[in-house]
Parts: sequence; structure tokens; C-alpha cells
Amino acid sequence: MSESMILATTLEELRQARALLENPLGLVPTMGYLHRGHLSLVERARAECASVGVSIFVNPTQFGPKEDLTNYPRNLEGDLKLLEAAGVDLVWMPTPEIVYPPGFQTWVAVEGLTSPLEGAMRPGHFRGVTTVVAKLFNAFQPQKAYFGQKDAQQAAVIRRMTRDLDFPVDITICPTLREADGLAMSSRNTYLNPQERQAATVLFRALSAAKAAYDSGERDAESLRVLMRETIESEPFAKMQYVSCADYDTLEELQTVGDKALLSMAVTLGKTRLIDNFVIGD
Ligand code: PAF
Repeated sequence: MSESMILATTLEELRQARALLENPLGLVPTMGYLHRGHLSLVERARAECASVGVSIFVNPTQFGPKEDLTNYPRNLEGDLKLLEAAGVDLVWMPTPEIVYPPGFQTWVAVEGLTSPLEGAMRPGHFRGVTTVVAKLFNAFQPQKAYFGQKDAQQAAVIRRMTRDLDFPVDITICPTLREADGLAMSSRNTYLNPQERQAATVLFRALSAAKAAYDSGERDAESLRVLMRETIESEPFAKMQYVSCADYDTLEELQTVGDKALLSMAVTLGKTRLIDNFVIGD
């Protein structure tokens, strides 16, 4: 671990600083506005790696035309304080022009896995994610990288990309951190008004209802989807976008829950869209 945290903006600055850091380097990619969930990834990287790098970049290419890029919450000063206190060695804060210089026309896209769920609701989203994560891997040359289970499909897609493109990076997926009432931590929670914030526990309640049914022996996937749907419909402020009970690896919808499965959902509360998931089975 270095004495003080190095801040880099250009790719050149990042590469020079990175070259001085000891391996293994653990990378935590973020879009900033950090909360305890992000910090748990940093802590894990700190515990497992000689050096820790963090990127703060609100990646424009993963936002759809009607999504919240301009209003995405930002707090660079606060983020840097938290990262320094967490013992991070190197932070890269590139501008969009550095990551996507004029004439940029090369994309990394995972097929298949990106079709259902978030991919179906947010066309182009995962192409933006995989392109930026591939660029971050090239820029930082990390031995390990840390992502949250909260974005379950993103985690599956990044694991697939890393395997398919032979990136020598070990991917660790860390558990979702939750508020006391079960709401999964997310930078987007800040958009919720008090009524919506209260209603937002419906995601956790719906997932918990399905998990309780699974734990009591229910193996019919449609019954679990119905339970989640009914719980969401019982909350007047919530609007369901999808519920899913899918195979953990392929993300294909299941008929019967056998091995590891992913219960997941997207729900809107007013203008805010939240996602959450539970993993069930062995
Ligand atoms: O999960 C996120 O915050 C983003 O999708 C990521 C991985 C930093 C890529 O922009």
C-alpha cells in the first residue's frame, strides 16, 4: 500500500502511477456517489490485494437516451475522502473524451446472456458496460476485479466477457449490502421521496416471500414468479417491470428450480427504477 492516494485523470497518468504499484492489484470499477456497498468491495480488495485501484466514471454509453445520465448523482470530493480513508492507492477519474476519444467505434458485446431481463429493458446497456470494463482492465491491468451481486446480470456478463476474451483477471462478486429494512444499497435510492422510499422495501419483501416459499419446498418457478408479482402489485406506489426465476448461469427462465437459481426483478417507484435479486439453491 502506498503512502498517499494517487489521483489520475489522463490514461498516461494512470499508466505511470499503476506501473509503480505492487501486484496483485485489485480493481473496483465505480460510477461514483459511493455508499457502503462500494466500500465493501474496496475493503475486500484491500484485504486480498497488495494494491487497490478504483475508477470513478459515469459511463455515458451504458445509459439509454431516456435514462438519467445528466442527473446521475455525483459527489467527487466526498468519494475521494471515503476512498482515501479506505486505503485506496490509485483513483482514475477520466473524462468521457478520454475514454471515448473522437472517432471511437470499437465495442465489446456479450451476446445471449445480455438478451433477457435488464438487457431486454435497457437496449445497449450491457454493450456500454462491457466496453468500459474491458477498457478499465486494459488501463489498470489488474489481477483481480470486484463487482456487486446487486447487479446480478452485469456480474454474469462480466464473468462471461472475462472468460471469452481471456482477460487474466480474477472476478470476485461481493454480496449485496442492505439498509436495515432490507432495501438494497444503490446510488439511485437517493432519488426516492419519503413515500417511495418506504414503498421501495417491496423488492426485498417480494424476494423474501419467494425465498420463504422455496425454503418450504416450492420448486415450481412460475409459483415463485407469481408470489413476487403479487407482492409487488400489493404496493400502490410500485410498478413491476419484470420478475424472473432463472438459471443462475444462463439466465434462462426456469420451469422447475433445481440447482442454483436467480430470483430477480425490476420495479419503478415514481421515476426511479430499482433492481434487486436473491440467489437460491446450492
Ligand atoms: O456497476 C457499475 O457501477 C457500472 O456498471 C460499472 C461496472 C462501474 C461500469 O460502468
